[in-house]
Amino acid sequence: VSNGSKNKEKTLAIIKPDGLLGNYTDDIKKTILESGFCILKEKRVQLDEDTVASFYAEHSSKNFFASLIKYMTSGSVLVMILEKENAIADWRALMGPTDARKAKTTHPHSIRAMCGLDTERNCVHGSDSIKSAQREISFFFRELSADVVTEHDEL
Ligand code: TYD
Ligand code: MG
Repeated sequence: VSNGSKNKEKTLAIIKPDGLLGNYTDDIKKTILESGFCILKEKRVQLDEDTVASFYAEHSSKNFFASLIKYMTSGSVLVMILEKENAIADWRALMGPTDARKAKTTHPHSIRAMCGLDTERNCVHGSDSIKSAQREISFFFRELSADVVTEHDEL
């Protein structure tokens, strides 16, 4: 690692169905870009139940799982790879807390405060660790390398 190299990190972001249906996509993307992220890849997809169940497998035993699957298949979603230094934590901070009602009081400038409704309908997703970012990027963009941290040597 040479001096002055920058570690850029990648994370997976999803604009959930209520984000797209409520026409928040442009505002969310504007916030993402103004916060210093690059949108490396994006695609709009209609998820089916099996795909959502597999994506959210860690929550399969939770009482909200069936409802979450129903919500996530209720309309199309926009899946994006975001890149910047510290992308994983910074995107989670920009999203705000899981419960959008709480976000409105404690994090009024967060994206979930802007367009979320409650703990389920919270309009955006973000990977929560390097491991989950690698898994989630590969899940949606299989052709891409699973490397989340990339060394960029400065010229
Ligand atoms: P979780 O990973 O806890 O939250 P986050 O999206 O902030 O990482 O939960 C994943 C999703 O599951 C969450 O975004 C919405 C849904 N969910 C519910 O529907 N009800 C709940 O009580 C919780 C905790 C999550
Ligand atoms: Mg999570």
